Amino acid sequence: MRQKKSIEDIDLQEKLVLVRADFNVPLDDGRVRDDARIRAVLPTLEYLLARGARLVLASHLGRPKGRSVPGLKMDPVAERLGELLGKPVQKIDRVVGPEVLSAVKELGSGEILLLENLRFEKGEESNDRDFARQLAEPVDIFVNDAFGTAHRAHASTAGVAEFVPAVAGLLMKKEIEELSRCLENPQRPLTAILGGAKVSDKINVMKRFLQLADHLLIGGGMANTFLAALGYSLGSSFYEKDLLDKASSIIRESEESGCRLVLPTDLVVARELEPGSDSKVLKPEDIDGDWKAVDIGPETVKDFGTFISRSAMIVWNGPLGVFEVPPFDQGTRQVAGEMAASEAYSIVGGGDLVAALEALGLTGNIGFISTGGGATLEFWEGKDLPGIQALQDK
Ligand code: 3PG
Repeated sequence: MRQKKSIEDIDLQEKLVLVRADFNVPLDDGRVRDDARIRAVLPTLEYLLARGARLVLASHLGRPKGRSVPGLKMDPVAERLGELLGKPVQKIDRVVGPEVLSAVKELGSGEILLLENLRFEKGEESNDRDFARQLAEPVDIFVNDAFGTAHRAHASTAGVAEFVPAVAGLLMKKEIEELSRCLENPQRPLTAILGGAKVSDKINVMKRFLQLADHLLIGGGMANTFLAALGYSLGSSFYEKDLLDKASSIIRESEESGCRLVLPTDLVVARELEPGSDSKVLKPEDIDGDWKAVDIGPETVKDFGTFISRSAMIVWNGPLGVFEVPPFDQGTRQVAGEMAASEAYSIVGGGDLVAALEALGLTGNIGFISTGGGATLEFWEGKDLPGIQALQDK
């Protein structure tokens, strides 16, 4: 990836700056439930405020698809951000237009205005040129700190860069540096752990890690597709029938690549995907009838732990079982514990796994936790992310 300019490379004194953040956070009863993505942008905001910049902040929240949805307004984010910064964050009910222009004009040095949800406007996701121009109109500089949305070519991530100088924020810079480590200069042995329901979401990243990693450990629903490709019938377990050929070809590729592909050797199976459902541990060859695989078993946890303890670097994306239905979160939690206890430098790519680490109080033991989900996977696949590409080269 070519080096991109960041806020550390430009003059910001008293400038009017549009900061694109990823404040796409979970809400509960109109309040922010998990503020990790908001906290992750604070270093950039504090850096800009310390230089007297005037800040216009923008983000999407959820998927309102070009309509105004009351439950997806940015007010809860403004409130939480104000608490974290210890200063008022003014919130406006518009994204562009005359009211925004006059509110921006009123901003004094070190003051902050948060725009309404970008995706209330149709022009955001369609990357409409005129909408992007309107976003850029009141500001001198565009700062993209929304790594989690960098894989989207939207007006506020890509289009806006045509109209105003565009640079990375400190979070964007750190994400690029940290996620590149395993691609450009991995410490070895490098172990990649991939979980989640579907192989279809992760084929490309799997192929990339077959080339890069020493071990590739697979769990979650996607492991079932590999086990089915090896001929196990797996009872009533979920797997992707249309991807059996792809799974077989990945198994063949692993044999040629020198990367060891490690699949579960035992699984927790249940009759229903419900807490309290009958469950037991079986070998893949013994699963039949209405039993479904819902988690990796204890022997697999031990096996994964052994690979982890021998690694110098670990990257992980996706849970290893049906994490949202306890107790089928146990495999993920135990492997997370092994990773946090190991000496290896670990990089975690977003999502449910972060919740597991937080619940276990282990986030402090992880080298880097990405704020991206889909963006992290596409970055590791080696794709050019539009939100990064649009930034000025160094
Ligand atoms: C995310 O949560 O992964 C990002 O905020 C992007 O959201 P999206 O998948 O709705 O574009």
